[in-house]
Amino acid sequence: MEENVPICSFTFGIPSKEVIAELKQANIIQMGTATTVREAVENELAGMDIVVVQGSEAGGHRGNFIDGNQESLVGLMSLIPQVVDNVSIPVISAGGIMDGRGLMASICLGAKGVQMGTAFLTCLESGAHKVHKEAILNANEDHTVLTRSFSGKWARGIKNKFILEMQKNEKLLPDFPVQNTLTQDIRKSSATQNNQEFMSLWSGQSPRLAKNQTVESLIKSIIGEAQKLN
Ligand SMILES: Cc1cc2nc3c(=O)[nH]c(=O)nc-3n(C[C@H](O)[C@H](O)[C@H](O)COP(=O)(O)O)c2cc1C
Repeated sequence: MEENVPICSFTFGIPSKEVIAELKQANIIQMGTATTVREAVENELAGMDIVVVQGSEAGGHRGNFIDGNQESLVGLMSLIPQVVDNVSIPVISAGGIMDGRGLMASICLGAKGVQMGTAFLTCLESGAHKVHKEAILNANEDHTVLTRSFSGKWARGIKNKFILEMQKNEKLLPDFPVQNTLTQDIRKSSATQNNQEFMSLWSGQSPRLAKNQTVESLIKSIIGEAQKLN
């Protein structure tokens, strides 16, 4: 609030009533995260101005906070229209969107905008590790899996040795953030050695559409494609 940040975006749950009221008082736009209709409705009831819906395609962690991990794995094509029918705040869609086609498909289904992760991760300006960028640029749609092995919370990333070796112990792993702390050293060493086998290679399910380009070129091509489809 001191910095006059115009928008605050939340994930992994809804902030307290007091926090929401204080931000509203300061005219700050608030965005929540949901993976099911129930979670989106809770966001609206709590006073969020916008809700981001994350489909199961999404890279990295997802912000489910009511529904379980299995139940919250709803594909974006199913999720957007069902959320749009049940909330009156604007819906932003996330998960596997890489270009103008994804943007326009989301808009057709009722979203007002999109949130993209993986597409920006491989951009020149991105601070992601070069090994992570390369892994995405070389990956196919069937190379990502859901894993708890890095952080204790389910997240989507490119399969590597660490994920495969930990699979048999997945049920025994401590929850986030304990497991996240426990794997910090191995992830760091792996990155220092440019070894992709023990790093978290977060990626959504559309890595074949990722490019190593500037953000300007990514945005320009999205706008161009969207205009053609309009
Ligand atoms: C490296 C990375 C880290 C992420 N971390 C989080 C997170 O901590 N919490 C969250 O709700 N979403 C997280 N996400 C998911 C994004 O918010 C977004 O839903 C996702 O990137 C959309 O799918 P896409 O990567 O296919 O574009 C992360 C995504 C990436 C790629």
